[in-house]
Amino acid sequence: MASTRIMSALPIGQNSPQKPPHGLYAEKLSGTAFTAPRHENKQSWLYRILPSCAHPPFQEDKGGPFNSDKPYDASKLQYIPNQLRWDPFDHDEQTDFVSGLRLVAGAGDPTLKQGIGMYIYAAGKSMDERTAFYSADGDLLIVTQDGVLDIRTDLGWLLVRPMEICVIPRGIRYQVHLPSGPVRGYALELYQGHFTLPELGPIGSNGLANARDFQAPVACFSEDSGATAAEGPNTYTITAKFNNTLFKTQQSHTPFDVVAWHGNYYPYKYDLGRFNTIGSVSFDHPDPSIFTVLTAQSDHAGTAVADFVIFPPRWMVAEDTFRPPWYHRNTMSEFMGLIDGVYDAKKGGKGGFMPGGASLHNVMSGHGPDADSYEGARNAELKPVHFGKGSCAFMFESCLMVGVTEWGLNTCQKVQNAYVDHSWGSVKVHWKKPEGASADGHLLK
Ligand SMILES: [Fe+2]
Repeated sequence: MASTRIMSALPIGQNSPQKPPHGLYAEKLSGTAFTAPRHENKQSWLYRILPSCAHPPFQEDKGGPFNSDKPYDASKLQYIPNQLRWDPFDHDEQTDFVSGLRLVAGAGDPTLKQGIGMYIYAAGKSMDERTAFYSADGDLLIVTQDGVLDIRTDLGWLLVRPMEICVIPRGIRYQVHLPSGPVRGYALELYQGHFTLPELGPIGSNGLANARDFQAPVACFSEDSGATAAEGPNTYTITAKFNNTLFKTQQSHTPFDVVAWHGNYYPYKYDLGRFNTIGSVSFDHPDPSIFTVLTAQSDHAGTAVADFVIFPPRWMVAEDTFRPPWYHRNTMSEFMGLIDGVYDAKKGGKGGFMPGGASLHNVMSGHGPDADSYEGARNAELKPVHFGKGSCAFMFESCLMVGVTEWGLNTCQKVQNAYVDHSWGSVKVHWKKPEGASADGHLLK
């Protein structure tokens, strides 16, 4: 991938000429170790007016939402086996995207480059035009739920609307604008590796999310370099998220001065409406892994640190089968959100699974359709139906046991205390012992 605002700004045939075109600086952005295998290797070359290193030292932002009492320390996460569900999270018109990020749950440790963080964001203000943010902790997958994000990155702009997602890789600097007003959504930070498309196996060479539908930004730059690079007024604020702590510095020159770039390490967006949904046309729906948009594998092949899975509108045609998700217990943890509409195994409406809310079914915590949904599906006439027009639920699924933050468990005040009782307190007994069976289950002759 390559993009340049001025045709002659991108060096041809080499990456680091003695004097890059037009007096630009060449800067390499490495998303993997230099020596990572070719199929994993992610690097981009940026041609910019001034290099990123030209700034005074960072200082800890002691008043920031990540910092006041280190609420996101891994040691403060609470690991509990209970099924959890949250009412829709509040909008917050006082915050911008960064100050409106709230860690709900997570696992692992960004210093070891292992694990994930699961966020809710809510914001009412665009970030200041003289600010930029980056995370050294991981790649951020953003799932918009309400409102539009117009994201200016090092490498250009991404407009991300509801039913679209974007991924901002580790280290990319960005600034989030809110062209349609207040926003709310979900985000998943990946401390290890990068998101990739899942293998397709017997599906073949097309299907699910197709590579051609992912969109990268076009290079875009500003020219404000301060009075001089070193001595101009320091009016641009750079905020770094580093081990779940925010640091700030101020510099005299715009961080958005990349005139040209090339490589395979860049932010991107994807329209979930382009997902080619595949399912059963005979009986028994496949595992929900069939809905995986992006995955990040652990060191064990086939086992994901994070899968991003969607449940989009689709035809249901399977015969003589239970069409919604079955009851199950899973070695993986499942954090779900609802972008819009209803989910086929849960009641919507107040006290149910609602857009902007969430649920967490942790490692081996039993879950499945609520009692009413089960009875409805058990008795439904199984004619072909198109399910979920205008709806889309999603899941962040992980092989890791997920801990919940104090904010997620208490401060947000959105946990539905009656979730379990409302969902499964009234599951019916359908069991009828066959005639002739003894009390211990043996058949009597
Ligand atoms: Fe599940």
